[in-house]
Amino acid sequence: MPLVNTKKMFMDAYKNHYAVGAFNVDTLLQCQAVLEAAEECDSPVILAFSSGSRDFFHPGNIKDILEIVSKDMHIPFAIHLDHGKNFEICKSCIDEGFTSVMIDASNYDFEENIHITKEVVDYAHKKGVTVEGELGPISKRNDPRFKKYTDPEMVKEFVMRTGVDSLAVSMGTCHGLAKFGPDEKAELQFDLIEEVEKLLPGFPLVLHGSSSIPEEYLNIFNENGGELKGTRGVPEELLEKVAKTAVCKINIGTDFRVAFVGGLRKSLNDFKDRFEPRYFLIPAKEQCKKIVKEKLSNVFKSANKIGKMEKEEKICH
Ligand code: G3H
Ligand code: ZN
Repeated sequence: MPLVNTKKMFMDAYKNHYAVGAFNVDTLLQCQAVLEAAEECDSPVILAFSSGSRDFFHPGNIKDILEIVSKDMHIPFAIHLDHGKNFEICKSCIDEGFTSVMIDASNYDFEENIHITKEVVDYAHKKGVTVEGELGPISKRNDPRFKKYTDPEMVKEFVMRTGVDSLAVSMGTCHGLAKFGPDEKAELQFDLIEEVEKLLPGFPLVLHGSSSIPEEYLNIFNENGGELKGTRGVPEELLEKVAKTAVCKINIGTDFRVAFVGGLRKSLNDFKDRFEPRYFLIPAKEQCKKIVKEKLSNVFKSANKIGKMEKEEKICH
């Protein structure tokens, strides 16, 4: 039962002014950490696989594996393809049981992006799978297209013509370790969000490039032999504010990876005389659980929402 698409999750998040966290995973251990953290927080959550991590994990069996892992859990979660670059990869993931896919055709021009996205939507919806599109692009800081914010009128046209269920837009963040320059003010385009809210009431937006790269996790990483420099993430106060708006999904890749590898680095240093893998992997998993819980409870405010959702559903039926 807990494996769902993102439809109801986003409806509830929109209505109750919180956001659902999507965490980029590569391994089963990370999936377990996310699901356990969400279960302990009573929060919906999304497991996001890039096409590379899906190939690495176990293409074809991800759904079955995660259904076994989550069999005693009650929280709803989605298995999502992150930044799917073409129809074929989206189709494969849909056929394998992913409940949500992102088609990122933002490198194409507007018309071609619409054409490719609609093709995915038509296929996905027949199978009950929800689709996230991208009208950005959400680039890296060194991309010449960086800071080209999405036009709300184009969002409306894109959504109407494709039928996407949610949309990633460019509103001030980017992928990578440095989201802002050292002297630059960290800001997000809240006006853009408000415009979309007016044009498309109830429609969920998605924020990419949302890692904050908290000092605590960065220090653990670097104090144990890591060399991450020049990082500057999105301040958590901004994410907290954006989670109350039409932004219903917040993507976390970098923070989650830094937490996992930092935990691993530390335990490799801490247990020099051990050789059992669990001595190293358990602390790494604990770091992952810790950061997920912090995000869900303190930033996205999606904790303690499931019980309420279930109660509301019972009253309505
Ligand atoms: O699609 C994934 C996200 O946009 C990840 O961004 O690395 O800044 O967390 P992030
Ligand atoms: Zn992204």
